[in-house]
Amino acid sequence: MSKYVIALDQGTTSSRALLVDRDCIVRGVYQMTFTQHYPQPGWVEHDALEILSTQLSVLHDVMDAFAVQPSDVNAIGITNQRETTVLWDRRTGEPIAPAIVWQCRRTAPIIEELCADPALRERITDTTGLIPDAYFSASKIAWLLDNVPGAREAACAGDILFGTIDTWLIWNLTGGAVHATDYTNASRTMLFDIHAGEWCDWLCELFNVPMAMLPEVRPSSSHFGVTAGSVPAASRAGSFSFPSIPAGIPICGVAGDQQSALFGQCCTRPGDAKNTYGTGCFLLMHTGNEAIRSKNNLVTTIAASEPGVSGLEYALEGSVFMAGALIQWLRDELKMIGSASESEQLARSVPDTAGVYIVPAFTGLGAPYWDAQARGAIYGLTRGANRAHIVRAALEALAYQVSDLMTSMVADAGVRVETLAVDGGAARNDFLMQFQADILGCRLVRPANAETTAAGAAFLAGLHTGFWKDMDEIRSKRVIENVYSSQMDAARRAQLLSGWKSCIERTRTNQT
Ligand code: G3P
Repeated sequence: MSKYVIALDQGTTSSRALLVDRDCIVRGVYQMTFTQHYPQPGWVEHDALEILSTQLSVLHDVMDAFAVQPSDVNAIGITNQRETTVLWDRRTGEPIAPAIVWQCRRTAPIIEELCADPALRERITDTTGLIPDAYFSASKIAWLLDNVPGAREAACAGDILFGTIDTWLIWNLTGGAVHATDYTNASRTMLFDIHAGEWCDWLCELFNVPMAMLPEVRPSSSHFGVTAGSVPAASRAGSFSFPSIPAGIPICGVAGDQQSALFGQCCTRPGDAKNTYGTGCFLLMHTGNEAIRSKNNLVTTIAASEPGVSGLEYALEGSVFMAGALIQWLRDELKMIGSASESEQLARSVPDTAGVYIVPAFTGLGAPYWDAQARGAIYGLTRGANRAHIVRAALEALAYQVSDLMTSMVADAGVRVETLAVDGGAARNDFLMQFQADILGCRLVRPANAETTAAGAAFLAGLHTGFWKDMDEIRSKRVIENVYSSQMDAARRAQLLSGWKSCIERTRTNQT
């Protein structure tokens, strides 16, 4: 009987492979970082061959290190950085250009030009759930077709394929046999009608993207194909190595990383919500079969569904740009702390911030303010303010930003969140988690398995094959490591939040 589902977690800075057993416990992890390319200010690129090489290497290494036989592996699940765009030659497997990463801002002028009309912007949001932005894949595909010599002709002739990273991995792992993605990844391209569940012809026309280059879209928990043993891109590998991988393993789970984390946190019912504290924060709330149109500048996205669910399921999503990155800034630029974990001890060394607030608008303010011109600020400095107050204010700023997202989400969904599931690096900071619970006035739960993103992909794959019977079985195996309940009285919460609000208003450049 097979022992594991393998999750491939292809993130923005590293490729990882994880062994997940029937008890939903991660038994082994291998990870490799890869190169971030910044060829011009605001541009971010990855080499899709390096992504593939690192992903295959960690898959090979984790199997090797834990003596995993192919027959031990029930299935593979894939989760990935979303929106990042790869175009490749279907005959050779060679990417036609570096992948354009979700963070890359080069296509902002395309969005400004094509999506200037407010009525059109509304129509795009109605159809895709997204706010027109360079973040999503559509303008990235358009840029590549217009800027790589010969690309458009080749794409029109059917020789160029588009994929987000999941699609690139599936195509290669299946030996070029399967060109497919799942609903969650498709919903991040800004070319997908999230209500009809199909590629949108008028959006493809608007961005001048030939529909022949788009992958087939399948449910997140379904059969995507089987591993072929060798990958087509290997012949073009250049300096990268491509270890062989076992043939015949089915790929049965695929989801974009934030939707995968939502699933991995067992948030599959309306009102279930999770927040991931990474470089930035991603807050997602499941809204069931209802695609809620946000009135507060959040985006609507497709959630991963367990097998057997009828119709598509949706989530509201909001993100903050600076979370862990703010703590890194204190460490690397201001040298106020030696390590991220030191922030907790310093924050606890003072009873409060002595009125100091940090608004971390380093790259503007995200949802619900969407103010690209705003810049970061520290408020309330007095002669008595010290390092501990500033570090504490930074941690509190993370919690305030999540609180702003949550307020918008609750207003949009019309449901109160009683429990928020948390994960990501900063979720290990007990001071931050307690303050977050206090400011939200709700319960936070942190599972013992910190690998919720990978777990989601594994669960999707294992539910399809019957490795796990159903979501109830998975829920029963979930171990909660810590619960944080609000201990703050309402008056104090209101006072702190009003201080934060006034700092936000002083920072904004686009007050309404
Ligand atoms: O939308 C971008 C997101 O999917 C990237 O996540 O964890 O790779 O930074 P991460």
